[in-house]
Amino acid sequence: MVNVAVLGYGVVGSGVVEVIEENREVLMRRTGQTFRIKYILDIRDFPQSPYADLFIKDFSVIEKDPSVSIVVEAIGGQGVAFELTKRALAAGKTVVTPNKELVSAKGVELFALAAQNNAEYLYEASVGGGIPIIRPLQNCLAANELNEISGILNGTTNYILTQMEQSNTSFTDALMQAQALGYAEQNPEADISGKDTCRKTSILASLALGSYVAPEEIHTVGIEDVTTADMALAKELGCRIKLLGRVVKGKNGVYHLGVSPTLVPEDSPLYSVNDVFNALIVKGSASGELMFRGRGAGKLPTASAVVADVIDAARQTSPRPWFSWSERAENVPVADVRDLPHAYMI
Ligand code: HSE
Repeated sequence: MVNVAVLGYGVVGSGVVEVIEENREVLMRRTGQTFRIKYILDIRDFPQSPYADLFIKDFSVIEKDPSVSIVVEAIGGQGVAFELTKRALAAGKTVVTPNKELVSAKGVELFALAAQNNAEYLYEASVGGGIPIIRPLQNCLAANELNEISGILNGTTNYILTQMEQSNTSFTDALMQAQALGYAEQNPEADISGKDTCRKTSILASLALGSYVAPEEIHTVGIEDVTTADMALAKELGCRIKLLGRVVKGKNGVYHLGVSPTLVPEDSPLYSVNDVFNALIVKGSASGELMFRGRGAGKLPTASAVVADVIDAARQTSPRPWFSWSERAENVPVADVRDLPHAYMI
């Protein structure tokens, strides 16, 4: 029996509970093990929930229960989520998370803490929602130098840009729709300002370099100032405007990083990636160009990636700590994507 505790019963947390409880047979077939949600921690009450008897408010119950080996942190942010992640790892429990804010800010410390306690910190869902990308970069592409990772990494802004361009919806209405669909962050400013894309780009850059790149090192511009007039102009040029996160290896071997609205021409595979869909183009030194595309936000797509990590944790097949990034050495500099020619067009 694999006992799992879920912290936070919001969009993603409730999706994780649903997938584990409703797909128990599938999980059993795939792993030979029975998965069970033992606790759900939330400050709110959910008396109507079919899982009402699993709710608790005191984390020490989970911390002290040796039968819980995996904790899903779906609280978000860096406050309580950081404290409880540290306590869970210190208790030797593997933590699985979609929390890109925490991974991008505190990853180095949390990977180290996990390793010290013979646990793991897994974050497949933190970039690209339901798209498998962390594990492909760490495992399947381990033989490659990663020459470029560029992508549409935020479902909310892609949804807004698509609605504005194709349905003439106002920015505000499109944002409200994205919130209603459960795509947006609790504070959608993080989506709109490009911060969310920046955090995900920091994670991808850290994987490409093999050592930590902080979000603060990445020049970031959001979509606040994109107008329908800009979109019409882009159309005349045969392009669409997409918010891209970019990690590009320059001729001198330095990685150029940036987040900004970018012109995407019709012949780019990113051109037709619309609505909540995310997509990443990865250029490996041996693999050549690859594309990953899928739903970048939402309850079940994100839960799909979280539960895959839960399964890996239970099988103990997840990437070992040597794939984690560590503090960056001074001789591994990064540069601005604006230093590259044609920085605003992919
Ligand atoms: N707010 C994020 C998005 C959620 O819209 O992509 C997934 O990270």
